[in-house]
Amino acid sequence: MSSNPVSAALRSGLFTRLVGRRILYYKELSSTMDEASRLAEAGTEEGTVVITERQTAGRGRFGRNWVSPNGNLYFSVVFRPSNSVLPLLTMVSGVAVARAVRKVTGLSPSIKWPNDVLVDGRKVSGILVEAVADGASVREAVVGIGVNIKLDPPDIEVLGGLANGLENASGRPVAKDAVLRQLLLELDALYLQATAGKAPLDEWRGLLQTLGRRVTVSWREESWVGQAEGVDGTGNLLLRLDDGQLVTMTVGDVTLHKAGS
Ligand code: BTN
Repeated sequence: MSSNPVSAALRSGLFTRLVGRRILYYKELSSTMDEASRLAEAGTEEGTVVITERQTAGRGRFGRNWVSPNGNLYFSVVFRPSNSVLPLLTMVSGVAVARAVRKVTGLSPSIKWPNDVLVDGRKVSGILVEAVADGASVREAVVGIGVNIKLDPPDIEVLGGLANGLENASGRPVAKDAVLRQLLLELDALYLQATAGKAPLDEWRGLLQTLGRRVTVSWREESWVGQAEGVDGTGNLLLRLDDGQLVTMTVGDVTLHKAGS
């Protein structure tokens, strides 16, 4: 595996229209989100990708820490979506990661709503979408993706055994540059299709292991328990509460219940 995933990705030919027009590679960053947001505010072109080998302050959803040692993939992409495409970035990115993982490793990933990519129930990738608005319209959105390739057992333990690396999951070496290249290709194709009005809703629904399950959805200090019945056209979760009410969850952290609980 190359120690520089950017040059390797470029060497093997990156035939994208938008994603990766500009690629910036760093040995270490606080977070690719910080650098990509800074570049976005400075007017960098849409599709700019910021990649790093490790992060000293990697972050996840809800302000959580994202453990970011060497050996895994960490990157962010700058988009300038319309207001209608912004809510689709979550499903676009989740489907892109799932496709890339499947094509490169042969594994069969699933998605825990909204966009944790799992293999055998353990998280192998996380996606973070941060947007900046200008009045009522979106100015820019940064999509950050972390893919665990070589996650050491101590790091897996720190994450409560809920995470895994693709090498551990597949039992084989996984080329980080191949995952990066495939992911950028998928992201490019799916984003351009979404901007043309074609969201990958059916594919995303098929990947969502949350549907049909009894779940708890937590958001800040509140939580809701019910049956995950489906998702709507923009990716919100439709939750049937125990009193029969159907609620639309736009955000939240899902915990799956074991059968019968
Ligand atoms: C989550 O599951 O909570 C989202 C995790 C997102 C992690 C990625 S790694 C690259 C980018 N930089 C960050 O600091 N976070 C995202």
